[in-house]
Amino acid sequence: MAETFEPTSIIVTGGCGFIGSNFVRWVVENHPGVRVTVLDKLTYAGNPENIAGLPEDRVRLVVGDICDEALLEGLVPGHDAVVHFAAESHNDNSIADPEPFVRTNVVGTYRLLEACRAHDVRYHHVSTDEVYGDLALDDPARFTEETPYRPSSPYSSTKASSDMLVRAWHRTYGVRATISNCSNNYGPYQHVEKFIPRQITNILCGIRPKLYGDGKNVRDWIHTEDHSSAVWAILTRGRVGETYLIGADGERDNITVLRDVLRAMGRPEDDFDWVRDRPGHDRRYAIDPTKLRTELGWEPRHTDFESGLMATIEWYREHEAWWRPAKEATEARYAAQGQ
Ligand code: NAD
Ligand code: DAU
Repeated sequence: MAETFEPTSIIVTGGCGFIGSNFVRWVVENHPGVRVTVLDKLTYAGNPENIAGLPEDRVRLVVGDICDEALLEGLVPGHDAVVHFAAESHNDNSIADPEPFVRTNVVGTYRLLEACRAHDVRYHHVSTDEVYGDLALDDPARFTEETPYRPSSPYSSTKASSDMLVRAWHRTYGVRATISNCSNNYGPYQHVEKFIPRQITNILCGIRPKLYGDGKNVRDWIHTEDHSSAVWAILTRGRVGETYLIGADGERDNITVLRDVLRAMGRPEDDFDWVRDRPGHDRRYAIDPTKLRTELGWEPRHTDFESGLMATIEWYREHEAWWRPAKEATEARYAAQGQ
């Protein structure tokens, strides 16, 4: 077991996005001695409402770009750690226009690593299971920390590139870095472009849900609160230089998830449209979280997907003012892509 690291002042990049904002809320609630500086560019995916209402003496928002070297030079010193969530995160967008993905995910990570190197600040890198490519539906294997990198999409290839930078900056320059690769998150504050919120809000708007391909693609779902507790465990108790996979044994195919949503919302199970598949669509992701569980003693709290999904549906019902402004433009973008 590594020595415990007890940060009191952290930068959370992308703290106005889905997972970053859930992490900020989780830290505020569970670690009263920690102050958080959120660094967020407020792209289409960032919303300051996601961290509204948190105590001002605990959470400060700096609107800015992780690629801005001068900004980082002023901001990073004086903090104990950078927890890096900011990214362009949506596969479909990366297929339509990869450039912002290369810039934010690769160049942005490089800038943060350089700032952490210059000021000897601990760095945690939030990455994805997609760096490992995909598995066949009948493959008994799951991804482990030893699985070779084999990304498929512009998004996952830029995340894989950023992981490689982190490994090199640790080995060559001694940057005190850890990496986590997590599976698909669900929960409150997720943008309506993503699978589960898209279908929930479609139903709330009277639009039929949209399923890609044959609907048999498998994702390994984890509640975003469990992602937060895992990142904190790795930041504070993980071994520097190590990678940890985060997952909660939540494999389900898309058609099953969609039918769960339809049933929970009182709609017939076949009340959806089959639409054009995503080019290069990964078939299956599956995480083996043994290292995280055995080495750091981490356990997920949300082990019942159906009840987590019900709570998420309820959250979208009650927060229409939050998601409504993004809905029309998101669906227009999908319609233009035949999806
Ligand atoms: P998101 O798209 O909801 O949020 C991304 C946030 O980053 C937004 O607030 C956005 O404004 C900000 N941002 C984007 N570019 C920026 C820049 N150049 N400078 C500063 N801020 C910028 O993403 P998410 O789904 O919350 O994902 C967060 C992280 O977790 C990403 O690194 C993603 O790769 C990783 N991840 C996501 C999932 C998932 O299921 N969503 C699973 C595993 C890992
Ligand atoms: O695995 C972790 C990754 O999970 C993260 O790294 C990404 O940031 C995150 O976006 C997510 O990627 P996916 O591509 O798996 O998520 P998405 O919500 O876009 O799609 C989930 C599955 O649902 C995928 O198989 C595609 C399918 N899908 C998606 C949409 C938006 C549909 O069938 N219909 C849809 O309308």
